[in-house]
Amino acid sequence: MKANPKLIIAFISVWSPSFANAGDGVLDLTQLANYANQAVPSYITKNNTTAGNPITDKGATLGRVLFHDKRLSRDNTISCSSCHDQSRAFGDSPTASTGVNGTTGRHAMRLINAPFANEVRFFWDERATTLENQTTQPVRDHVEMGFSGTSGDPAFADLVANIVQTEEQFVVAPGEPGLVMSVFTLPSFEFVFKLIKDKEFYPPQKDTTREIIQSKYQLVKQHDRVGRMADTLEYSGVGFPLQRFEPELLAEIEKFAPSQLQVNTRSDGTQEVIIAHVYIERRMIPLNIYLQEAFDAGGADPTATSPAAVQARVQIERGVAEYGNAIKDLVAANIFPGDMLWKNFGVMRHGKVVFYDYDEIEYITDCNFRKVPAPRNEEDEMSGEIWYHVGPRDVFPETFGPFLLGNPAVRSVFMKHHSDLLDASFWQGHKEKISQGHVHDVFPYEADKRFAVQRLTYSPD
Ligand code: HEC
Repeated sequence: MKANPKLIIAFISVWSPSFANAGDGVLDLTQLANYANQAVPSYITKNNTTAGNPITDKGATLGRVLFHDKRLSRDNTISCSSCHDQSRAFGDSPTASTGVNGTTGRHAMRLINAPFANEVRFFWDERATTLENQTTQPVRDHVEMGFSGTSGDPAFADLVANIVQTEEQFVVAPGEPGLVMSVFTLPSFEFVFKLIKDKEFYPPQKDTTREIIQSKYQLVKQHDRVGRMADTLEYSGVGFPLQRFEPELLAEIEKFAPSQLQVNTRSDGTQEVIIAHVYIERRMIPLNIYLQEAFDAGGADPTATSPAAVQARVQIERGVAEYGNAIKDLVAANIFPGDMLWKNFGVMRHGKVVFYDYDEIEYITDCNFRKVPAPRNEEDEMSGEIWYHVGPRDVFPETFGPFLLGNPAVRSVFMKHHSDLLDASFWQGHKEKISQGHVHDVFPYEADKRFAVQRLTYSPD
């Protein structure tokens, strides 16, 4: 974890009655509390939030955790909450509070509603000019948390260095587990590690092999000219210190990919895990989770008017529209994604959607896009089974809808922008063009940002 005292401030700036359950010790990271869009009574007119450092649900959640983290003190005994006690409006009952090196010179005041207060400076003597600038001071204070760099105590920079070299463990990546891939990550690291499971553990619908899957990843490397597929780096024989692997993760690899796992003792006596073959890929928010977050915030209700619901609606609109854009760019690059479920797409930092599940991709030119034939008789029509012949490369775009568009909010956005994807002739048309050697232009930016449409905005005198 990288130390970011600003995040504590985001948290100080936003706590609300929902904070009352902080003592539970359990945070559901897939369903963060709403800090970013809290309702503020109309008589509150001030907001001391620092410009350029807006409150986010993630930032405030991390701040909430750091507020209780004793590792921010020199000897791991004192956290912010030691002196700022929630049950006392985040103040302390003794006149002076106890820190790592004795007692404080002044009383630890309550911190409630700091962002809305009329005073803009902090501490009794107003020596902190902003909330943001206040936060690291207790950590650096010789008495309070002790990273003062004086009297033999370590300095703030030492704390940061120490946190950066964490003892954090590799864990099973959150989200829906893959059918043929095992994915793990280091929580503070922006990348995930993907390894291919051993064949005997694939579910029956995945008729593939390690070699085929590797060849699909290779195809992506050679073929992605549209930037809609997450790039991977491929490594073999990668060693990690054993104690940095969470036991659940080790158990998962042992269970699903025993051929890939080896535990060795190094010459210095430490143990290491060696993974035979692994891909490293940038971590993204799975699109299904991105949409679920928006549903949970009320985005699926077209009549809701709260700011959170409106924002959630925008999130759905953007996610679904971008999903279709991603597929269309892939088509332009002659790629049929195969498995187009939402969970196989990820949202990058700036909202761009990319595809990252490669085990079923095919060239568009190798697929046979068909319309579902008209039923021959009533029996066909009523049949719950597929009554028509389906070849191995046959794809029926009309049938994507029931898999992908169960949610009405998603369906309406999808139909507005991308209903053509449910039409065999769209795919067929692209296939023909590609076969004729046509290369479709794909632009990395939105249309309105292209030079071609930009006007000169200055007027020379
Ligand atoms: C050892 C006890 C102690 C610890 C630990 C501590 N504080 Fe304080 N806090 C105080 C005292 C005492 C004051 C008043 C100091 C002063 O005015 O000189 C204060 C003042 C503040 C203020 C100013 C409030 C105002 O209205 O001016 C803020 C904000 C604050 N602390 C936040 C924090 C945060 C965040 C942490 C953890 C990073 C923290 N404190 C850790 C004792 C503590």
